[in-house]
Amino acid sequence: MEFTAAHQAAGFRDAVRRQPGMNSSFDPHPLLPFDPTDLDRGRDPEGGAHGAFATLCAGGGTLLRDGEPLVAPIVQSTSFARDGLESTAQHRYSRESNPTVAALEAVLGRLERAPDALAFATGLAAETALLLAVAKAGDHVVCSRAVYGGTSRLLRQVLVEFGVSATFVDTTDAGAVARALRPRTKLVLVETPANPTLVLSDIRAIAAHVRRSDALLAVDNTFLTPVLQQPLELGAHVSILSTTKFVEGHSVALGGALVTRDEALRERLFFLRKCTGAIQSPFQAWLTLQGLRTLPVRIERQSAHARRIARWLAGQAEVRVVHHPSLPTFPQSALAASQHLGEHGAVVSFELDGGPERARRLLRAVKLCRVAEHVGSVETLLTHSASMTHAAVPREEREAVGITDALVRLSVGLEDPRDVIDDLDAAIQISGGAPAHEEAKRCSAI
Ligand SMILES: Cc1ncc(COP(=O)(O)O)c(C=O)c1O
Repeated sequence: MEFTAAHQAAGFRDAVRRQPGMNSSFDPHPLLPFDPTDLDRGRDPEGGAHGAFATLCAGGGTLLRDGEPLVAPIVQSTSFARDGLESTAQHRYSRESNPTVAALEAVLGRLERAPDALAFATGLAAETALLLAVAKAGDHVVCSRAVYGGTSRLLRQVLVEFGVSATFVDTTDAGAVARALRPRTKLVLVETPANPTLVLSDIRAIAAHVRRSDALLAVDNTFLTPVLQQPLELGAHVSILSTTKFVEGHSVALGGALVTRDEALRERLFFLRKCTGAIQSPFQAWLTLQGLRTLPVRIERQSAHARRIARWLAGQAEVRVVHHPSLPTFPQSALAASQHLGEHGAVVSFELDGGPERARRLLRAVKLCRVAEHVGSVETLLTHSASMTHAAVPREEREAVGITDALVRLSVGLEDPRDVIDDLDAAIQISGGAPAHEEAKRCSAI
């Protein structure tokens, strides 16, 4: 039989249909004979990386059939052919669902022992869909006071226009969450660790209160990802991820995801995503899938670097305060140990003596560390939270949660931590008024 273009196309369609996470319900992809999400397996003491997740992220978790591509292809098609009006095809139009997006969703769901996640164009698109799904005019949301500025802005400046009110509470105190619940509270949105102060909220304790009400508990797990924290296992109803950060990890793709074991909520979210057109594009989903393959190794290594750099910062005379859950001075060490899976993430924040002006000079003086409004990538990044990520949060609210104008956020990457320390060391000296020729010498050395 002659091999024609039509056969080739049919073969491709078949291959796509059988990609991990792209299989139709009629042709399930066989799973590996072990569960890569078995949390009880824990860390491999000899291998380092979290064994429970590394296999799944690396592309495993399903058995490949003869001739299947190792890497799921990008299906950059807006629409899918149908066998007449009776078609039961899984994908119809890419605003509703798409095979590449579905491949990402399958892995993100399995990482939390949940049905497939729902992927969105950005983290904020995911949060918007969640809010639209659970709240209508007259309803109420409880949100962490220490929360990403964009989340705060969405509630304070957008949802309020639609009659949804929000109370910002100190969720490090589970009792404060319980006291803030009202009969029409539909969602409790907690960010832990909080951006950028890294204070922790006790997910188990908050879930115990929320589950006695009609509200749902959603946890923004962007900073730790399912590799280091499992919100659904701890009692939350929904995990929120800005996949733009650690999940993708290379500063090349925006994205967000919601993971839930509540099928009715998942269906409602799927419907809202279709209605509002908030789905992630196939290319962004494909890039995110590539990043996900190395997530466990990256986040563990970056967290270890962060531990080392936080320790070094804490020992510097001119550093006034350092926040990282690994430090012995961290006030919530016991909670960190019980809630996190081994490491505590790669974000550190600190203040130098000399206030906001010193922070400004530090950001000008760094050379290897880059100043950017971003976290979670392989390169080390510095952010001035008060004027960048949290500029939309009213000053008094910012200061109440410790986001002073002097606070600097450090997202530690994969560089040799000794190089990052050298860069910070020199920049701290220069920002403290080191002579100009010191800076000139340094510029020529880098
Ligand atoms: C903790 C946290 N949640 C959500 C978001 C929003 O994600 P995105 O930028 O993908 O919309 C961010 C962005 O910085 C974040 O840091």
